[in-house]
Amino acid sequence: MSTSGGALDPAAWDPTDRAFRDDPVPWYRVLREQAPVLTHPDIGVVLSRYRDIDAVLRDRRFGVATPSPWREVFAAGAPPSMHLLSENSLLFVDPPQHRRVRGLVAQAFTPRRIEAMRPRIEASVTAILDRIEDVPTFDVLEEIAWPVPITAVTDLLGVPATDQGLLHSWTHAITAVDELPLDFEVLPAAGVAADEFLAYAGDLVDARKRSPGDDLISGLIAAEEDGERLTRDELLSMIVLILLAGHDTTASLISTGLWLLLAHPDAAAEVRVDPGAVGNAVEEVLRYLGPLQVASGGGRWPDEPVTIRDTVIEPGTPVRLLLGSANRDPDQYGDPDRFDIHRGSIRHLAFGRGLHVCLGAALGRLEAQVVLPAVLQRFPDLALVDDRPTWRPSFVVRQLATLPVATGRS
Ligand code: HEM
Repeated sequence: MSTSGGALDPAAWDPTDRAFRDDPVPWYRVLREQAPVLTHPDIGVVLSRYRDIDAVLRDRRFGVATPSPWREVFAAGAPPSMHLLSENSLLFVDPPQHRRVRGLVAQAFTPRRIEAMRPRIEASVTAILDRIEDVPTFDVLEEIAWPVPITAVTDLLGVPATDQGLLHSWTHAITAVDELPLDFEVLPAAGVAADEFLAYAGDLVDARKRSPGDDLISGLIAAEEDGERLTRDELLSMIVLILLAGHDTTASLISTGLWLLLAHPDAAAEVRVDPGAVGNAVEEVLRYLGPLQVASGGGRWPDEPVTIRDTVIEPGTPVRLLLGSANRDPDQYGDPDRFDIHRGSIRHLAFGRGLHVCLGAALGRLEAQVVLPAVLQRFPDLALVDDRPTWRPSFVVRQLATLPVATGRS
């Protein structure tokens, strides 16, 4: 595949290519312009335009569980824990199960519960900044972007802070499966992590049943609607999903957000002095370089033939939705490749849309809105150490590998 010199050819697009993963934007442009409905031999039908992706996310003919989204995983002999997770995770079930589970979860996962976390998130950020106050340099991922979301999620679930290291490593091992195309080499480690994580979640549920608290797990156990409750497997999958979905993504948002602000000093200065500016700045980070570039790794599956721009998509074909490309679509945004924290009516797709729209969006936003101004205020001379960032080599997740910064202190 040629990415330098001549024009890019959509027929030669290779989602495993390192150059594409380092900078997908030129390829997104080519796909949107020349092959908005591309049939790729390894990953299925790929959609790249905002209008098409938005429509599929809201189209009830597309499901996430038909056939099982992780069927490649099963074919490769995944352990029973992976079956349990995929068959009961909110992200991988269709109505009516999805409606029932989401309704029950929403009873416990309320906006009030999330807003009540603000003081604790602020306190955890202050403690981190106090600790690194005098260092000349630090890595934003290591010191801030990883610890803040894992602290928030363990706090939400009422899990001991001392278990964070364990949860962090399980999350990494399991989310490695969510890649396109699937990397079979990561499966054994993911299976072991899923086994251990499910056993841990089972112990938590048993403990909360014996002695309920005001944490989310106790709320999920108590949730009831029309005589229905979450089954034990749904409960365990939900606990695992909240950690998987809430940790890596928010770490990306915080680190990419800080990188973008530091690379645009006027925007950083504004967020530093004006607390009102951070809300729109975070939305622009989500649009410009959102943590999930592709909707749920399992894709969307039509349950009847569906025609999109003259291409008939048959049942059994996975449809991959390039959220990151939709968010750069010039039909939706003026000057889409410009990072502009004053952009109006952003309405990005970084949290998805429709039935599976992110359940934790308010928490992800809250964390970023607390962290970004706090870091910029604590370190008025904060600067990037490297002009060229190193990205994790992933198609699905947009995340810096490291983000070294200089504080201006010696
Ligand atoms: C900036 C951070 C985040 C981003 C960018 C993000 C992104 C997304 C996206 C794109 C989806 C939909 C996937 C699809 O339709 O295929 C989703 C679903 C979900 N997210 Fe998030 N997420 C973030 C943070 C969180 C947090 C903090 C939590 C929980 C604590 C969370 C929990 C969930 C859950 C449970 C779902 C599944 C909802 C369903 O299937 O009904 N997310 N997220």
